[in-house]
Amino acid sequence: MFITFEGIDGCGKTTQLNKVAEFLKSQGRKVLTLREPGGTEISEKIRELLLQSKKEMHSMTELLLFEAARAELIDKVIRPASKEGEIILCDRFYDSTLAYQGFGREMNTDDIRLLNRLATGGIKPDLTFYFHVSLNISKQRSSNRNLDRMESAGDDFFLRVIEGFNKLAADEPERVIKIDASREISDVSDDVICELKKIL
Ligand code: TYD
Repeated sequence: MFITFEGIDGCGKTTQLNKVAEFLKSQGRKVLTLREPGGTEISEKIRELLLQSKKEMHSMTELLLFEAARAELIDKVIRPASKEGEIILCDRFYDSTLAYQGFGREMNTDDIRLLNRLATGGIKPDLTFYFHVSLNISKQRSSNRNLDRMESAGDDFFLRVIEGFNKLAADEPERVIKIDASREISDVSDDVICELKKIL
């Protein structure tokens, strides 16, 4: 079982991922938590390049680096773990690339879908939680931390990213569960656990 957690910065997906991991462990399940970009030595190095550098980067370079980090994570961690029958929880996955690079950076989404397929070798999430918040809430929640390169991209960029996630959720309702994440953490996690129980 491969479950991904998506949404814009400040939507609370990481907190919710940790709650799901706790819940599954309390049920005696073997759980692996990962984040993208990251999760292997090379992918973490690519993450630094992508997020910490304030230097201007060509959007194609950015896209290919996200996909390169993904190819490593799939090969070194996700494919082996899925063979072991672990439940894999991943903080962001290829929907982020469609939303941020496709909609945010306005790159061709068919090209991105092809690159996603090449990088993953066809592995797809069984279930995706999309934590929906408005741009205002995202900004309020992120206001007291240092912005990384993606987060400094501006309001128009983020409005397009939100539109992208909304569209992805509408296009694949059987995989993507859209959750109203503007509420209290405990209300959001009640919904998430309820959805999860239906599937397990
Ligand atoms: P994020 O996962 O939100 O971590 P943190 O909250 O710890 O900063 O940061 C990753 C950033 O990378 C985020 O701004 C979204 C962006 N991103 C893309 O633009 N494309 C991608 O394919 C992925 C996986 C992430």
